[in-house]
Amino acid sequence: MIQNIKGTKDILPSEVRKWQRLESVFRSITDVFGYEEIRTPIIEYSELFHRSAGEGSDVVNKEMYVFEDRSHDSICLRPELTAAVARVVLQNTLLRAHPTMRLWYYGPCFRYERPQLGRQRQFHQIGAELIGSPHPEADADIIHLAQSLLVACGIDDVRLEINSIGSTASRLAYTTALVSYLEASNSDLSEDSRRRMESNPLRILDSKDESDRRIVANAPVIYDFLDSASKEHFHRLQTLLQDLGVSFTVNPMLVRGLDYYTDTVFEFRTSKLGAQDAVGGGGRYNNLFESLQGPSAPGVGFGIGVERLLLLTSDIEAGEGLPTVYIVSDTEYAATTMSLAAKLRDSGVRCLFDVQHKSFKAQMKDADRSDAACVVFLGESEIRDKTLTLKNMKTGAQNSIPFNVPHLLELIHSFNSL
Ligand code: HAM
Repeated sequence: MIQNIKGTKDILPSEVRKWQRLESVFRSITDVFGYEEIRTPIIEYSELFHRSAGEGSDVVNKEMYVFEDRSHDSICLRPELTAAVARVVLQNTLLRAHPTMRLWYYGPCFRYERPQLGRQRQFHQIGAELIGSPHPEADADIIHLAQSLLVACGIDDVRLEINSIGSTASRLAYTTALVSYLEASNSDLSEDSRRRMESNPLRILDSKDESDRRIVANAPVIYDFLDSASKEHFHRLQTLLQDLGVSFTVNPMLVRGLDYYTDTVFEFRTSKLGAQDAVGGGGRYNNLFESLQGPSAPGVGFGIGVERLLLLTSDIEAGEGLPTVYIVSDTEYAATTMSLAAKLRDSGVRCLFDVQHKSFKAQMKDADRSDAACVVFLGESEIRDKTLTLKNMKTGAQNSIPFNVPHLLELIHSFNSL
């Protein structure tokens, strides 16, 4: 039997309500923050991510799903959406009419990683980008939105860590200092970190290896390499977050896995998901638009992993469903059953009936399983007398009423609100 691809997950009907519930939280929170939804294709030219996330990043280096299409173009499944959103903004010159854009998105991303709890090869992100402002107020708005989403999803035990990695120039100076510090302990570094000395030394800072951590604890800190504009930006952001009541800690070792960040970087972390401790992350990217060969524009944003959100919100309410009615009848009266179902459905009632020619008893079992608030019996006597027999599944009370749809609807709603 053909199975799903490793690292992908089917969302079964029993789980889908939770997803829908989260999606409706995303919509309502982004709406009050004044962010507009944007939808971009799942496939992009690979070059988009080479130019943005960067050749040195694991995402581009090791994790992208890349293929050649029939025109011999190199295409990839998007590993993230920030670069895609920047492409759309540039391609449609959106900033001309709207110099400040608040955008949010929700959809699947693809990374060829080793699957484990909270880590998949196809996963979903909810994210937002505030494009056009270089100021710390924009960073604070984005972080506040991310935090509000987490809170609205019922997550209160994540910690926000922030850092500033400064401009490209100060980061280069810092990287040189870091490499010369690490070289002294090169032989004690993990194999992964030794490899990163070449490709992306900053990532050694957030290595999980014990020996790496001991070495890194005394490494130079990036803050000492920031220029005054970056320091000022970072201080102002901290004041704004404090005023908004957003708690955070400054983690001078926090760096992010994508190359486009400048100044602010941040991560929402949890201790509940083992190694996959980042629920969401983001930062500022003042050079991203230039790296995509467009006119320069500053931006800041975040992405939150929806699978990780769901793991943390196992008891998120599935939400009030529609009232469910099950019509128990006989095949002989199928036409009447279906036309009654149609009327109930038109009025927003979820209505089910048997399509397997099952016995009366078996239909009752199905009605039970479907969590119906009430069952409508439509048998020989009901058809003859133009009545319906109604059973309230919560109380067990049963009564006969005239075959009158508005009256039936009234009763169904009163049962459902019991
Ligand atoms: P990222 O940190 O690579 O940032 O991903 C954001 C979030 O996506 C992570 O914190 C995690 O929750 C989730 N995630 C990443 N990889 C996986 C995976 N393999 N399985 C499950 N969840 C995963 C970005 O993607 C940036 N675009 C965020 C951003 C927006 N920066 C600025 N604007």
